[in-house]
Amino acid sequence: MTMASEAPAGTAVADKGDVPRHVAIIMDGNGRWAQARGLPRTEGHRKGMEAVRRIIRHASRRGIGQLTLYSFSSENWRRPAEEVGFLMGLLRFFIRRDLAELHAENVRVRVIGEREGLPSDIAALLDEAEVLTRANTGLTLAIAFNYGGRQEIVGAVRALAEKVARGEIGPDDIDAEAIDAELHTAAMPEPDLVIRTSGEKRLSNFLLWQAAYSELVFSPVLWPDFDEASFDGAIEEYNARERRYGGVGARQGVR
Ligand code: FPP
Repeated sequence: MTMASEAPAGTAVADKGDVPRHVAIIMDGNGRWAQARGLPRTEGHRKGMEAVRRIIRHASRRGIGQLTLYSFSSENWRRPAEEVGFLMGLLRFFIRRDLAELHAENVRVRVIGEREGLPSDIAALLDEAEVLTRANTGLTLAIAFNYGGRQEIVGAVRALAEKVARGEIGPDDIDAEAIDAELHTAAMPEPDLVIRTSGEKRLSNFLLWQAAYSELVFSPVLWPDFDEASFDGAIEEYNARERRYGGVGARQGVR
């Protein structure tokens, strides 16, 4: 992967308009992409990996602060063993092949999701990626792997219940901030924009807590075909939206 070849490492290049601070993507449609070509589903994932590289490079160049990619959900274990094994292999391949370059490009890698239950070499690779890139200041790339929003919330609630049981905090200390701090995403900004590709219009257990006020953009493009122009189109749609956070919009004025 060649990232930001014309720009210095981790530097945003000339930008057309605002960019959201945090973009999260549900990368959907790999299987349909392959099926439409009479190929095995795994070929769709392989091609999807190319789109991953393309979009990381582009997001970095556009000066996005954080890009979160839903790469393997807690529910994806239900897929045939061969496909699960292939997706694990792709992650291994991605870290082994691209980590040095991501690091050189000042990308900070974070991983959200359950480490427990992953093959031990993968858990070690994910740790290595986080440790190596810890001090980088460019794009934060959050890989959601073995991630499920409900499971994450359950984990946070349990951690807080244990603190209450140990007498460290009282029930009244449990507020949104306390829950935030127990999530995998603690200290990360909430996503401003969540994109889902392939025309499906669901969150599918992705960032359920964090996406409370996110703008949602649904692209009809299948993930392997998702390119720089598709990404820019989603950003444009985001920029045309008015975010109200439950209040009254500026365009309506305050009465
Ligand atoms: C959804 O398409 C995609 C996934 C479950 C996996 C996403 C993985 C990649 C894009 C490559 C791996 C990325 C990393 C960072 C290791 P689908 O298979 O559900 O498609 P379908 O709905 O058309 O069947």
